[in-house]
Amino acid sequence: MVREVIPIMEATKRPLRVCLLTGGGDAPGLNAAVRAFVHVATRRDVLVYASHFGFEGLLAPAREGSPQVVPLRIEDVRGILPRGGSILGCSTASNPFALPADHAAAVDATARLRAVLADFGIDALVLAGGDGTAVIAARLEELGVPCVVIPKTIDGDLGGTEQTCGIDTAVETATRAIDALHSTAEAHHRVMIVEVMGRSAGWIALRAGIAGGADAILIPEVPYDPARVAAKIRERETFGLRFSIVVVGEGASPLGGAASEVEAQRPGHPARLGGAGEFLARELRARDLHHEVRVTVLGHLQRGGTPTAADRLLATRFGAHAADLCAERRFGRMVSLRSGHVVSTSISEASRCPSRVDPAGELAYCARSMGIELGTA
Ligand code: F6P
Repeated sequence: MVREVIPIMEATKRPLRVCLLTGGGDAPGLNAAVRAFVHVATRRDVLVYASHFGFEGLLAPAREGSPQVVPLRIEDVRGILPRGGSILGCSTASNPFALPADHAAAVDATARLRAVLADFGIDALVLAGGDGTAVIAARLEELGVPCVVIPKTIDGDLGGTEQTCGIDTAVETATRAIDALHSTAEAHHRVMIVEVMGRSAGWIALRAGIAGGADAILIPEVPYDPARVAAKIRERETFGLRFSIVVVGEGASPLGGAASEVEAQRPGHPARLGGAGEFLARELRARDLHHEVRVTVLGHLQRGGTPTAADRLLATRFGAHAADLCAERRFGRMVSLRSGHVVSTSISEASRCPSRVDPAGELAYCARSMGIELGTA
């Protein structure tokens, strides 16, 4: 059930105190969200504190002896709009439900977390994060820790919102890379495979692939047949086009196969994906295409650098709305974009419904209509 209003203000007669953190991997636009949150919250009489490196600041006592929860004021967030990363730092290794412990299995650090929140008089957490952070927030809410989530991820795989901040910049970076690869592919009559991020969602691959004019796009939602990709390359040759660009999402898998991993999943942490491009290259090389096949892995380039104007704008709107939610004591909510409007949705619902490319949806249909090979019939 959604808790719309928590009357903390009435109960305590003091300004609300919230702790803001950026959870999971960084995403372009995070600083814009932090800046907007601090500006609006401060103007609405909400005291903002920050935990550095995700939950690490809050959970530091469990590791190092002193909590790192610091006040965050308007003067602390000046000049950060164009900066990538997060001024608060990020951590993918500080899940309070599965905190890695030295020489031991992960431990549940939620009791410690609650004690630190009580020590600092923190009433609520504001978590800028992706799907992993939303799941943590939903579980913290169940434990009675009020939370607000600001959706960010380059993968676009978080449910409950039409857009997350970060993906626009990642798609822009990937599109420019595909543009650049076209000329060198053509000069050498090569097949260029571009591996992009996105985990189990093909949003970056599909959007950048269409925007960059790829000949084949392979996404995790559609297990692919390497023979169809090879056939597409041969078909282009019959038109005198002796180069091809294939975009492959890191989570893509061949029919009957699995996604390529460089590190297996462990408690509280997803598998680390990688190798999808090389896997496909081996499959294509085995099919005698008379073309050299090369692989470019874009990797963290997609996460770094200056956010696009669209990401900064969305992140600012999200951060401002998150501050409004706090000021109105509306917890258990994730900021969300619906039909172009910034609204909010239930954290638990959003965390239960990941966003994936619909293979029968408009974007995939558009790609197929353009003659782009998606790897299956
Ligand atoms: O979730 C964002 C993301 O960049 C994914 O696209 C990618 O699989 C993963 O994070 C990489 O995470 P890390 O930087 O921790 O290896």
